[in-house]
Amino acid sequence: MTDAVAAAAASPAAHPGLADSAFLKAARGEPVPHTPVWFMRQAGRSLPEYLRVREGVGMLESCMDPDLVVEITLQPVRRYGVDAAIFFSDIVLPLKAVGVDLDIKPGIGPVVASPVRTLADVEAIPDLTPEHVPFIAQAVEGLVGELAGTPLIGFAGAPFTVASYLVEGGPSKEHAKTKAMMFGAPEVWDALMRKIGGIAAAYLEVQVRHGASAVQLFDSWAGALTPQDYAQHVMPHSARVLAAAGELGVPRIHFGVGTSNLLPLMGEAGADVVGVDWRTPLADAIGRVGDRGVQGNLDPTLVFAPTEVMTARAAEVIEAGRAARGHVFNLGHGVIPSTDPDQLARLTDFVQSYPLA
Ligand code: CP3
Repeated sequence: MTDAVAAAAASPAAHPGLADSAFLKAARGEPVPHTPVWFMRQAGRSLPEYLRVREGVGMLESCMDPDLVVEITLQPVRRYGVDAAIFFSDIVLPLKAVGVDLDIKPGIGPVVASPVRTLADVEAIPDLTPEHVPFIAQAVEGLVGELAGTPLIGFAGAPFTVASYLVEGGPSKEHAKTKAMMFGAPEVWDALMRKIGGIAAAYLEVQVRHGASAVQLFDSWAGALTPQDYAQHVMPHSARVLAAAGELGVPRIHFGVGTSNLLPLMGEAGADVVGVDWRTPLADAIGRVGDRGVQGNLDPTLVFAPTEVMTARAAEVIEAGRAARGHVFNLGHGVIPSTDPDQLARLTDFVQSYPLA
């Protein structure tokens, strides 16, 4: 057993309930006591207790404060009793940690001061070592102590999605500069994807070594690509990150938005569970990902419908999920900030008490 596998195996032993958690069982394709549920962006602006602790504290600043990370990560677990916690951080945090000049602007997202355009720009970005992120190790350890039997999901941004912020300099609809580099400067592209992939793998390793029991790779904007371009220019890099996480012995979730056509490739990239957005019926997604688990995929706007409409649609998702090797219930993308937390509490209870087949 390598040190890393030993570390991963050691953390469930610290909390006997963890290995038997519904979330980890579903992620491994084992029979579950109930359909596990958590929500992407379950911590955040939809929660009044989040808005209170974030008052006057910048987003990146809060991600680097272990006490705040522990508190914010625990907030939705306390409120909803969800089956997993997701580490409170951001996909651009590891870049900030190695020294890239960037910020997360409220209502906008990540903004990079000097966008990456040349090979020299790529080479100027340091690789990530644990010494860059002591506050991450500290926050994960604090969390694992508090979470007891609830698994913690570590995460990283996938190379394509993170590259989009670095190359565009901020959020983008078309990802035009990013794809111009991908099509027109393959050696720069390859170096950039290797750089980001290495940072993502190292960042996930820190989270797992300190106690995260699963990881999710967010390739939110991969849906901008054709399957052919994804396979040629992106998939090998994401596959390296997922393989490195697999070496650590934890289940890997691979998620993107608008990825209906990419689902088979996102599975083949090395996912145990493929995250599905709400645009693809879950039954279709299950047919495309092969013998893997799925996560999703209720339309995040259904929380604004009457409760019985929301729960009827949730029931359809749960029923469809039975055909998969494992099903983790989630929304098809993040919680919308104006979501009523009471509605998510009702949804959590509904999913967890829904009868098994
Ligand atoms: O609860 C969780 O899901 C964990 C926390 C989390 C955040 N960002 C916190 C955050 C996670 C998993 C992310 C990942 C992330 N960040 C992604 C991939 C997931 C996805 O939604 O597709 C992406 C694309 C980003 C980049 C990013 N960071 C965006 C687009 C934004 C939103 C900008 C805005 O203000 O609308 C951020 C900021 C951010 N990350 C917030 C949170 C809670 C909001 C900032 C705030 O609360 O002030």
